[in-house]
Amino acid sequence: MISRLWAKLGKSSPKAEMPQLDKVPDHVAIIMDGNGRWAKDRGLPRIAGHHTGMKAVKRVVREADRLGVKYLTLYAFSTENWKRPKDEVDFLMRLPQQFLEIELEELIENNVQVRMMGIKSDLPSYTIDALEEAMERTADNTGLVLNFALNYGSRKEMIDAIQAIAGDVADGRLTPDQIDEQLMSERLLSRDIPDPDLLIRTSGELRLSNFMLWQLAYSELWFTDVYWPEFNEAHFQEAVLQYQSRKRRFGGL
Ligand code: FPP
Repeated sequence: MISRLWAKLGKSSPKAEMPQLDKVPDHVAIIMDGNGRWAKDRGLPRIAGHHTGMKAVKRVVREADRLGVKYLTLYAFSTENWKRPKDEVDFLMRLPQQFLEIELEELIENNVQVRMMGIKSDLPSYTIDALEEAMERTADNTGLVLNFALNYGSRKEMIDAIQAIAGDVADGRLTPDQIDEQLMSERLLSRDIPDPDLLIRTSGELRLSNFMLWQLAYSELWFTDVYWPEFNEAHFQEAVLQYQSRKRRFGGL
């Protein structure tokens, strides 16, 4: 199995600096930050950073797939990002469509399954249509799950879950003592996906920004100063290597 994976990577044997392929995190979640600053440093408009950020998405999807990651969740637009100037929001809303126009065939060839996590109702129809087409055409794929967090906010996600649970209690479908961690997890937008093992945030910011607050309870966190448009395969490997050097105790000893 492992040697087959190395063959897939085009390597004859593991190099010291390469991640161990039998200990790759199942689920990697990424806060892709720094697009605006990357553009500003180059005297470019912020949207140029988002555009170049798409190329980093492509690199990371490929690398995650090659390493054997099972789930890759990318924070592409938060419930708070609507506060940005309209032009920038419009551009960001076009990105899934642009990305999938270019990449969908390759994702299908590579057995990648596309998913979306967020509130669909506020999104423009072209954004939803592009994602739904991708989800439909990749629904039977069994490889990497590429999960776009779009119009996603963790507090809203939890409030919606709690309201639904409270409704079930009020209607007698649930009793309060039936509410446990498993039930809560099943009511979140991430219900079909295990909690992230590793969270990566780029651009030097050290915060979670309302991203998967429930699900990240025991995840390993890895931060880098690199701006998202420059994030590449080597950075991803570095994060996985760091993850592999950590001892996860989940509150035990
Ligand atoms: C945060 O950087 C980034 C975003 C809000 C958008 C993320 C989008 C991409 C990486 C493009 C790819 C998306 C898809 C769907 C393929 P920022 O704008 O907050 O950067 P700053 O902190 O430097 O201003």
